[in-house]
Amino acid sequence: MAPLPSPAPTAAVIGMQWGDEGKGKIVDLLTEDFDVVVRFNGGANAGHSVVIGDRRYALHLVPCGILRPDRLNIVANGVVVDPEVLCAEIDGLTAQGVQVGANLRISDRAHVVMPYHKQTDAWLEHAQARSEDRAPIGTTGRGIGPCYADKAWRSTAIRMADLVDPAALRTRLAHIAGVKNATLAGLAAWVGEPFEPIDPDALAATYGAYADRLRPHVADTNALLHDALAAGRRVLFEGGNGTLLDVDHGSFPYVTSSSTSALGIYPGAGVPGGSVTRIVGIVKAYTTRVGGGPLPTEQDNAVGRHLRERGREYGTTTGRPRRCGWLDLVAVRHAVRLSGTTEIAVMLLDVLAGLESLAVCTAYRHGGRTFDTFPASAAVLEAVEPAYETVPGFVADISAARCWDDLPAAAQDYVALIERVVGVPVSLVSVGPDRAQTLAR
Ligand code: IMP
Repeated sequence: MAPLPSPAPTAAVIGMQWGDEGKGKIVDLLTEDFDVVVRFNGGANAGHSVVIGDRRYALHLVPCGILRPDRLNIVANGVVVDPEVLCAEIDGLTAQGVQVGANLRISDRAHVVMPYHKQTDAWLEHAQARSEDRAPIGTTGRGIGPCYADKAWRSTAIRMADLVDPAALRTRLAHIAGVKNATLAGLAAWVGEPFEPIDPDALAATYGAYADRLRPHVADTNALLHDALAAGRRVLFEGGNGTLLDVDHGSFPYVTSSSTSALGIYPGAGVPGGSVTRIVGIVKAYTTRVGGGPLPTEQDNAVGRHLRERGREYGTTTGRPRRCGWLDLVAVRHAVRLSGTTEIAVMLLDVLAGLESLAVCTAYRHGGRTFDTFPASAAVLEAVEPAYETVPGFVADISAARCWDDLPAAAQDYVALIERVVGVPVSLVSVGPDRAQTLAR
């Protein structure tokens, strides 16, 4: 047997907060140097905005590499694919002049999000809202949790390989409709919603039509990926959501249902552990979060409003206003450790301009203790009091800066503070959405 070729260069772009850190822009920039771009987790809950010239592209399932010619884009097995959303996204990209063909491949092992997943998502949130137990998660309503739950249940799951096989789809749906009609009728009654039983034939017809459109894209992406690596092609892994939404390591239960750190690359794309050596952690210069759950540094005041308006902090996927607050470096350090982050890109630094002083959380206080680890308990995270380091702000707009030396000393010091507390070098700073507004450190 021939010896294995040495691995091709690989990198990953991973969000170090609660999502919406600006990963899309950095993936887009790095794609210049990569041949293959891979999504490995999450689904249509993720949203990347990429601005190229005067055009803004909103991507949910399709990797950012689609915006450049000659890149192979892989939606790997760890992603949950909503065929309706994916077809609409392909149509939208095509209408904007983006070519989508053999450059998009979807794993035959990826699980499929169905309408009853979205319904279940909504009903579970209603049930939680009415109970005296904890507050609802505030999901995106995209059916993500119920689809990953069916993946773990196995007997009620549909994978892309089933979707594109008409006979398999019909028999799967006949079985699943029986199970779902029995279980969802009870859930609907419990939350007081009308229940329309699933008609497996109607569903097979609608999803069969999506399957016809998506079939040319469906492939064994694991084999494609390994072939690409063996051929020396450079592969970039694009994380969806953010590390603090990780189902194992985030602010559970206020998280999403997939592995959102670099740890998720390996099962989610089927490459050996440790095969990605360059991990770019994306850190927004402040903190945002959508949905429920603790946010220790939240500023429900003029600072929060400044960040929301200057940063245009409204969801790409749902349009919801994001909760905003000071940079939480306890949370970022937790994320950096999990992913083995090798460098950091600081995003949206320009949004801080105009604030007289800036606060950065470097520890939490709770129950008479001061600590700098991220607690497992949402109740503890809700109750902690952030310990802040306060530093001078910068008043003038910095969005015209084109190199590190163009930044005022206070902005440079703020970036240096992040490096010092987190212990990882900052390689890039972003001061606006355009490709040109990216400064190498
Ligand atoms: P789900 O992923 O729709 O189940 O939502 C679970 C939690 O993750 C909710 O608080 C969502 O708002 C949040 N969430 C999921 N995806 C993203 C994202 O891409 N950015 C920010 N928050 C997200």
